[in-house]
Amino acid sequence: MDLQHTDKNYLWHPYTQMYDYQSRDLLIIDRAEGLMLYDEKGKSYFDTISSWWCILHGHNHPTITGYVKKQLDRLDHVILAGISHEPAIRLAEKLVTLTPTPLSKVFFSDNGSTANEIALKMSLQHWRHTGQPSRKYFVSLERGYHGDTIGTMSLGGMPDFHKEFADLLFTSFTIPSPHCYRCPMEQNRKTCNLECLQPFEVLLEEKGKEIAAMILEPLIQGAGGIRMYPPKYLKKVAALTKEHGIHLIFDEVATGFGRTGKMFAMEYADVSPDFLCLSKGLTGGMLPMAATVTTDEIYQSFYGPYGDNKTFYHGHTFTGNPLSASAALGSLKVFEEEQPFARMQETVPYLHKKMAPFNNLPWVGDVRCLGMICAVELVKDKKTKEEFSFEERVGWKIYLESLKEGLILRPMGNTVYLWLPISTTIAEIDEITERTYRVLSDPANINGWGK
Ligand SMILES: Cc1ncc(COP(=O)(O)O)c(C=O)c1O
Repeated sequence: MDLQHTDKNYLWHPYTQMYDYQSRDLLIIDRAEGLMLYDEKGKSYFDTISSWWCILHGHNHPTITGYVKKQLDRLDHVILAGISHEPAIRLAEKLVTLTPTPLSKVFFSDNGSTANEIALKMSLQHWRHTGQPSRKYFVSLERGYHGDTIGTMSLGGMPDFHKEFADLLFTSFTIPSPHCYRCPMEQNRKTCNLECLQPFEVLLEEKGKEIAAMILEPLIQGAGGIRMYPPKYLKKVAALTKEHGIHLIFDEVATGFGRTGKMFAMEYADVSPDFLCLSKGLTGGMLPMAATVTTDEIYQSFYGPYGDNKTFYHGHTFTGNPLSASAALGSLKVFEEEQPFARMQETVPYLHKKMAPFNNLPWVGDVRCLGMICAVELVKDKKTKEEFSFEERVGWKIYLESLKEGLILRPMGNTVYLWLPISTTIAEIDEITERTYRVLSDPANINGWGK
């Protein structure tokens, strides 16, 4: 079979302009091992984006595949509505153990968007059950990204992604992005006194009683451009939402499970939400699964005799799928067996050190890192921070050049990033950062910079 031809005939890829591949081959991956992906011709590529930020311990980790294979011989799938099974039960217990005390009930779904959507629906319904139906609006951040369903797009702060669907989206409130490199309040990291939270404070004073919940990605706005902000921001958001009795939803779909150097990014601020939304790394990246973890207080407001109209009418066919739940249990086993946090004591500072020289390139405005995630923001002018325009497509050229280097870099706009598995070794960091440097240090790859 001619895979290239057949792909182009039948497949429509996500977040991809298929026209770009009209006269160009797609990268067709045949197999994977550890950090490496291999194409049909056997050429290898470092998976520096962890296959859309989900692979945690490397591809095909034998412990996880072992858990899935064992489960496959026993129970493939069963409805999880009033019928249960051991992998879902065990996983729910483990997730409650891993998360802060108030979080004690787990609702499974299939992907990050649904994990967030469920939190929104639970929050809204909770306020109806508890006599505050006027709380029906949500607050989110500019450049926030919570998924591609109608609800999560309504709280998305990414005009490029969401503007075509504006007619479908519900009303919500948006506050400035805490983007320290391009501070909306014209502060810098040293002078910052969380001025960017003032609009939130004003909103809470004016509309606090109409707000159901605030949703945000702890410490890193991923799809918004790998924007990083300090733990003190998260701490203040938690204090403000508590003060005004508003639910707090942490979307840790991308940051969860160790990627930032702690199990959950919220641990840096020592705060806990009313809803914690998880996916991607939950199964170590092997199978689709998501979880919305919430408090007993929320759960109890839904609890009551039949006919009370308190049931949460939400569920998906594959909710709690036994194979996915087994993969998640396998991934948590790897945490126990391999102690990645101990290893990251060495690998994380090493990665950050290796990224520092990127700062010296004349077209690099900012290098920011947290845990195994590092971003390099490209600019036309370091002083003015002038951006490359959308039409200049610097990211596309870098993507194509990275493939030649045996890397998969998938820049977001003008931001090139590494989102590495937590298992990445020192030798792999050397190889990845050196290849990335070769791609980014050639002005020809940065739109012929300076010409
Ligand atoms: C922070 C965050 N939330 C939600 C999502 C949506 O997850 P999914 O693509 O699994 O629906 C993503 C995906 O990248 C994400 O980064």
